[in-house]
Amino acid sequence: MKSSVIYEGKHHKWVVFGRDESKPEKIVDTNQYLICTDTESMLLDPGGIELFSPMLTGILGYTDLNKLTTLFASHQDPDIISSLGLWDKTIPKAKLYAPLLWEGSIRHFGMENIKFMAIKDEGGEVKLGSNTFRLIPAHYLHSAGNFNLYDPEAKILMSGNIGGAQEKGDVPMFVEDFGKHVAYMEYFHRRWMPSNRAKMNWIARVKELEINIMAPQHGRIFKDEDVQEFLAWFEKLDVGCA
Ligand SMILES: [Fe+2]
Repeated sequence: MKSSVIYEGKHHKWVVFGRDESKPEKIVDTNQYLICTDTESMLLDPGGIELFSPMLTGILGYTDLNKLTTLFASHQDPDIISSLGLWDKTIPKAKLYAPLLWEGSIRHFGMENIKFMAIKDEGGEVKLGSNTFRLIPAHYLHSAGNFNLYDPEAKILMSGNIGGAQEKGDVPMFVEDFGKHVAYMEYFHRRWMPSNRAKMNWIARVKELEINIMAPQHGRIFKDEDVQEFLAWFEKLDVGCA
């Protein structure tokens, strides 16, 4: 499992984990994000059960386990949160922020100890140390109940499946040539995202945010002008069709 710091501020830092060389071939590669403050840490889209041990080892390089107080699941899929049953035994006092819509499904991954913090459809906030993060609705992109997490200080939007790419191998963490990157994103967005109306609602919502980094759950991360390139490309793309 590779990791790198993508933001380091006064109060907190962001770390991405991915490009897991130990994962079985037919398992999709995913990005997991860790936000560390001095007092607490939060893991975003913690990943599948298969990734639990490399993730645990990776995280310990950046934070103490007793500081890992918070998990966030953008939606209910197994590559997002099927590791929950193992986290439940490892950090039993933690909280999980996840869509209310999916509580009944997510609990099937095993959750006896961790506290479920239901995110209502309209979104909300997560506090961590002295930081406050916004939970931005991204419903139907692709999941029916789906959220992004926005960090107003770092200006990072963790965008879940939006911006995801299916590029194989040990590729760089950041997009380097947007034009070339489109080839790895197009089918995924057309086939997985079911609604042009939901897409336009989301674009209008995130255009109000200042975004320096857009961090998806699959593939490379967008920064600076590539974020605006993505929004313009996504706006034109007809989704909900293969
Ligand atoms: Fe998903």
